[in-house]
Amino acid sequence: MKTREKRKLRTRWLALYERIPYELLLLADETIDAINRYVMDSDIYVLERGGKPIAAYVLYALNECEVEIKNIAVDRAHQGRGIGGFLLRDAAAKAAESGYSTLLIGTAETATKQIALYRRAGFSFHGIKKNFFTANYAAPIVEDGIPLKHMLMLRKEIK
Ligand code: ACO
Repeated sequence: MKTREKRKLRTRWLALYERIPYELLLLADETIDAINRYVMDSDIYVLERGGKPIAAYVLYALNECEVEIKNIAVDRAHQGRGIGGFLLRDAAAKAAESGYSTLLIGTAETATKQIALYRRAGFSFHGIKKNFFTANYAAPIVEDGIPLKHMLMLRKEIK
């Protein structure tokens, strides 16, 4: 993506009465049930093109200081052009504006591309949620032939 195009990127907060972009959120999470466990108590930010959401992230407050990106997704046609990196910076800015000091994000321990993206955006190792995928999903999730078990948590100080 050209620098000029990147400058134009902007997210907006999705009001409570607006349609939740499940088709995007399902790129990052396995089921609507799993998404519904956090999305109603979260703030959703969307990036739109021609009035349609093409990328989104979901911020869920863990406590007064910490907020977690529970879901981050860019539609397939727009991936690999810097939008994911932009969303991570935007999420950090929005969370800091709202008074949080730490931003967390979790992903499968096997998701090496996502982990590299988060590390480049300034996140570092925070911990492991043991058996997260086996305990929270009815059916096994298999990615690249590997059954998912634990979730790797990363954190970034934003203040
Ligand atoms: N596909 C392609 N590239 C990916 C992916 C992926 N699934 N995941 C991470 N990357 C890395 C690439 O290695 C690439 O690195 P490079 O620039 O060195 O080649 C880099 O991310 C691309 O950076 P961006 O263009 O800024 O990221 P993009 O706009 O593609 O968004 C995202 C990244 C959000 C992970 C996107 O690929 C996506 O929506 N994937 C499917 C959903 C997903 O996996 N979401 C994260 C799950 S964890 C969670 O939601 C908390």
